[in-house]
Amino acid sequence: MLDPIEFTSAMRKAPTPVSIVTTSGEHGPHGATVSAVCSLTAAPPAVLICINKNSRILGMIEEHGVYCVNYAAQHHNNLALAFAGVPDFAEQRTFKPENWSIDPTTSLPVLIDAAATFTCLHIQTVSFGTHRILIGKVERAESNDARPLTYWDGNFKSLA
Ligand SMILES: Cc1cc2nc3c(=O)[nH]c(=O)nc-3n(C[C@H](O)[C@H](O)[C@H](O)COP(=O)(O)O)c2cc1C
Repeated sequence: MLDPIEFTSAMRKAPTPVSIVTTSGEHGPHGATVSAVCSLTAAPPAVLICINKNSRILGMIEEHGVYCVNYAAQHHNNLALAFAGVPDFAEQRTFKPENWSIDPTTSLPVLIDAAATFTCLHIQTVSFGTHRILIGKVERAESNDARPLTYWDGNFKSLA
């Protein structure tokens, strides 16, 4: 078997977009930084996201049945650190109105000035190893011209 350290070290060189996935339910809103998001099908519109089985947001999404994938723009890098649980940014892990609007229909936090946002209905969970693959049917998509935040070689990068 390939050494997991070799795998991780090579995978660090694959650039990814950075999203903050949000959900909301009876315990209020919650969000987590997630880079493992990709388009699954255009018809029906669907995405998949990969979430560690120990993440709090996993059970919340499965319970609430709805979530929003917010692709961060370059100026959201501190927020992305906050929603990844980095202690120095902990005080920013909130849904302040200057950064977030609340969708009146779903109660989901939607990131203001995000590169793109996708409101998803949770359809299916697939288990594999330490992670869960969540398949979501996209109900609403919005985008703007903001330059996306990307993650590469262990750091946030800006597109040139
Ligand atoms: C750039 C970046 C990308 C991340 N991508 C993922 C991911 O794809 N899946 C995941 O489960 N965690 C990912 N994480 C880690 C979560 O953001 C982190 O574990 C978070 O604290 C989970 O929050 P929760 O336990 O409140 O749900 C990422 C962290 C960073 C900094």
